[in-house]
Amino acid sequence: MSPERPLPLSLEDPAPLLQWLSGTGPEPEQIELLFLARAWVRSAIVVASPIEKARAILQRARELHAQVERGENPEVIARLFPAGSKKDLNRFLDEWVNSFEAIEPFANEISKALVPEEQLEDTRLTLRYVIVELLRNVIQHSHASSGGVVLVDLWNEESGRPMLQLAVADAGIGIPASLRTLHPNLSDPEAALEKSLWPHISGTFEEGLTGTQQNAGMGLFFIAEMAKLTGGSLLIATRGASLLLSGWVDDEGNHSLRFIEPRGVGFPGTLVVFELPVGGVVDYPALIETIKERAKQRTPQRAIHRWIRFDSAPPEATVFEIQKQAENTPAAIHLAQNEITPRILRREPIVLDFSGLRILTQSYLHSLLFEPLRLAWALRTPIHVRNVEPAVRSNLELLENYALAG
Ligand SMILES: Nc1ncnc2c1ncn2[C@@H]1O[C@H](COP(=O)(O)OP(=O)(O)OP(=O)(O)O)[C@@H](O)[C@H]1O
Ligand SMILES: [Mg+2]
Repeated sequence: MSPERPLPLSLEDPAPLLQWLSGTGPEPEQIELLFLARAWVRSAIVVASPIEKARAILQRARELHAQVERGENPEVIARLFPAGSKKDLNRFLDEWVNSFEAIEPFANEISKALVPEEQLEDTRLTLRYVIVELLRNVIQHSHASSGGVVLVDLWNEESGRPMLQLAVADAGIGIPASLRTLHPNLSDPEAALEKSLWPHISGTFEEGLTGTQQNAGMGLFFIAEMAKLTGGSLLIATRGASLLLSGWVDDEGNHSLRFIEPRGVGFPGTLVVFELPVGGVVDYPALIETIKERAKQRTPQRAIHRWIRFDSAPPEATVFEIQKQAENTPAAIHLAQNEITPRILRREPIVLDFSGLRILTQSYLHSLLFEPLRLAWALRTPIHVRNVEPAVRSNLELLENYALAG
């Protein structure tokens, strides 16, 4: 491919780029102009390249971006922005992440850098949630030694409406192969990809059993619902299949979800793109609450119990500050196994203090409390929580709903 004939680069029509990436490996020399395209294009190219080239490609992309920002490199500017629309290029960031510990600080940093405005806090929290969930998926499921690359863009549409685009890509085994380890019957990649959007997918399809200790199967379900509720979009391209969910409703009030044609168009790993109109979220806790309700509707057999207590704990209770290890799943499992579970077994009161945490992902809370909560229920010993912000409370209630099902 030559730079004179750029590929169609809109998220609405990702097939040409995806086909090209899964076929011939990209040559950075030829494609450098594509680096001024949206985040999903850059991340896809970086991940589809051999790892030793990928970092150099990102570096080159940053240089080009900086040059264009400074008004240098008129040749590139003229080629890419014929109408002088350089203002189109706005904030952007990229990073590699390959450990759990890196996720939380990085998600904070990137969401603050992209959406610093106080009045856009709900958009920022949504972005942060999605970054954390997608990176956790890379670390937990992709088996990609290089980890995942994250790119975020913010730009102004011609309509004047700012848009945010987050792309997380890895060169791993892909979603269908990962799901097959739990569900060997899911041999068709499209069927597997569609199932990955279901709540509780990583548990089992049987009623009553929900999730392994590590995972609730909620990450992609939450992200898909966020795209629907904000009028955003979600592209998932993975080995063997790709789908595009558009948050806009059609004449019949349905969201459109389609597989990318022709059948089998995939990606050499997993690429997830989440697009959100800036300001599309005005009440983040309400958004989480709505998605929680939807998850409940789709798992109707779940009964409500009350073993997480939001009222005050006995004074002698041992207190655990969750902020110190937020979003670190191995630390959550460690705390659950070595501190929380033994105390519940001895029926000693405990308090989990969530102060300072406006947001926690469902996946993290699952690792922290899924097993302890089932034990708490069995032994009729409540787990007390305090300083719980509304969005975190919604996630805790959802966890209780499915952990104590049946
Ligand atoms: N980057 C990825 N690479 C490979 N497989 C993936 C990737 N992301 C998701 N998957 C597969 O899709 C499934 C659903 O992902 P999802 O985030 O919805 O749930 P989960 O990660 O299992 O649980 P939770 O997010 O609640 O901890 C995963 O269990 C995994 O099999
Ligand atoms: Mg997940």
